[in-house]
Amino acid sequence: MPSILSCLAHIRMWNKNTIVNKKILEITPYQPGKPIEEVKRQLGLQKVIKLASNENPLGPSPKAIRAIQKALAKINRYPEGSCFYLRQALSARLKVKPQNLIFGNGSDEIIDIIIKAFCEPEDEIVTSDVTFLEYKIIAWQNGRKVTTVPLKDFAYDLAKIKDILNPRTKVVFIANPNNPTGAYVARKEVEDFLKALPRRVVVVFDEAYLEFVDAKDFPLILRYVKEGRNVIILRTFSKIYGLAGLRIGYGIAKEEFIKYMERVRQPFNVNALAQEAAYAALDDTAFIRKSKAIVTRGKEYLCREFKKLGIKYIPSQANFILFCAPQDGLKVFQRLLTQGVIVRDMCQYGLNNFIRVTVGTKPENEKFIKALRKVL
Ligand SMILES: Cc1ncc(COP(=O)(O)O)c(C=O)c1O
Repeated sequence: MPSILSCLAHIRMWNKNTIVNKKILEITPYQPGKPIEEVKRQLGLQKVIKLASNENPLGPSPKAIRAIQKALAKINRYPEGSCFYLRQALSARLKVKPQNLIFGNGSDEIIDIIIKAFCEPEDEIVTSDVTFLEYKIIAWQNGRKVTTVPLKDFAYDLAKIKDILNPRTKVVFIANPNNPTGAYVARKEVEDFLKALPRRVVVVFDEAYLEFVDAKDFPLILRYVKEGRNVIILRTFSKIYGLAGLRIGYGIAKEEFIKYMERVRQPFNVNALAQEAAYAALDDTAFIRKSKAIVTRGKEYLCREFKKLGIKYIPSQANFILFCAPQDGLKVFQRLLTQGVIVRDMCQYGLNNFIRVTVGTKPENEKFIKALRKVL
């Protein structure tokens, strides 16, 4: 006869199995880079640097900090639901209409909004197999099927993606430059891809790292938006503007698309401090210039050091570099942690021997290289 305890366990189990939406059991949650304080605590370290989440190593824009301080006294009020002032400023900057913009609690939220606004239950999403994980995760959370295509030379293979589109394909996500590889698709490839694309397909170009790009043949996707194509651009204040902790990003698309997306947006999705900070940071040209310079110089230094160490790396258009660890990537990642350096192992992406390092300040980059030499 089963004991009371085992009966209770069974009932709990039964509840667990029936109460939850079973689809979510198939989702592997997003694993963010380890926080500095957690690593200090776990390993008993005094000094830890984080080069794991492609953040700005200089901190936030000083203009943004001042704007937040000023806005603090007003946080008893709900935020401006439409991001009015930021919308005006960005519309003037990008030479698009205010109605071509949508704001989100990070560009992550806009990925969710796009899927909700465009995908019917049977519609499918296409992206690459090694890319920003949130495309897949958010698609699964929404119960949508995702098809992935292998990368070509660490960048999106647009020709292959075009080949596999089917009548159910609704949204294609393209991170350009790609995260975690830093590689990019060039103007000509994008032009060929967009030519004769089925009319029911929406192509999302995620330009989270656009401000770090140097490549002369990088595509100008904004032009396609202005031509009224089925294209949506994602941008963020989390990277060069140094506001990752505030959560604010935006989308650019034709008016018709923005209207659909606004229907599934929560009314106060972007908080008041984020709006003020983003508005101020947009104008902080000195900070943006300095942030870009530090990444350009840092990338040159890291690539030189990788060459000296005989380490293979992928040339990057972003603020991080993917490199091939000469030994098991996870082990190298763990040994770097013990040296007080947090980077990102690539197991979640299926690139077991690779590590992604975010470009830091000069002393941070030097500490990373010193630690890497030691652990290898
Ligand atoms: C390609 C890409 N898109 C979007 C994001 C998320 O940006 P946000 O902080 O605006 O949600 C990231 C963050 O790392 C990213 O790498």
